Amino acid sequence: MLEVRDLAVSYGPVRALHEVCIKAAPGKITSVIGSNGAGKSTLLKAIAGLVPTVSGTVIWEGNQLNNMDSVEIVRAGVVMVPEGRGMLARHTVYENLELGAYTRKDKAIKSDIEKIFDRFPVLGQRQKQLSGTLSGGEQQMLAIGRALMAKPRLLMLDEPSLGLGPLIVGDVFTIIQKIALDGSAVLLVEQEVGRTLRCSDYTYVLETGSIIDEGKSGELLDRDSIRKAYLGTIG
Ligand SMILES: Nc1ncnc2c1ncn2[C@@H]1O[C@H](COP(=O)(O)OP(=O)(O)O)[C@@H](O)[C@H]1O
Ligand SMILES: [Mg+2]
Repeated sequence: MLEVRDLAVSYGPVRALHEVCIKAAPGKITSVIGSNGAGKSTLLKAIAGLVPTVSGTVIWEGNQLNNMDSVEIVRAGVVMVPEGRGMLARHTVYENLELGAYTRKDKAIKSDIEKIFDRFPVLGQRQKQLSGTLSGGEQQMLAIGRALMAKPRLLMLDEPSLGLGPLIVGDVFTIIQKIALDGSAVLLVEQEVGRTLRCSDYTYVLETGSIIDEGKSGELLDRDSIRKAYLGTIG
């Protein structure tokens, strides 16, 4: 279980997150929706130890993450797929997957790469190709595959739908649902509100650094205020 309590983050004098409280459970997709600049990426980066926190705590499996550095946090099973996918464009698909396992010391890395190829056959076919030459959808699959190489128990995804066509977005969301079904906790940050509410279990609404609403995703999908603000429809 992830429990974020009263988390605050500032960039210099500007407060980006105000006392944010969220939870994310294993086997479930928890989502955070909100407009551009709401603080979604900042929230994921703070959990991942990539930006310093002003106050509050991040508890994961009973341990306090905000005492750890970002590599220790990955070792604790918390892995982020960053916005824009964070691929090494001049490295091959295979090399990017190997890099995903950088915190591991075990001998199963090669066989785990084969498992990624079973799950994403397109990556197997393109394993020697430079990642920068993949399509947007293939790059998103690689970014997720690379994160899985770190064996996450909490997978955080920052706007995986960004820049992808609707068909590929559907494939990506199906993959994310499968990862949760396999038992990981998934924390998904999105601006693609309709699809996110349909595929996730619980949703928080983040605006200007504060959680302004939350509930079961299906209930939020039926709420007029949400439909009006994020889906452009009422009723
Ligand atoms: N490195 C940074 N330095 C200063 N301000 C930042 C930085 N990163 C983000 N911000 C600001 O923090 C706020 C939240 O940004 P962000 O977390 O990227 O939002 P979102 O991911 O929801 O679009 C915005 O006002 C943004 O301009
Ligand atoms: Mg963002």
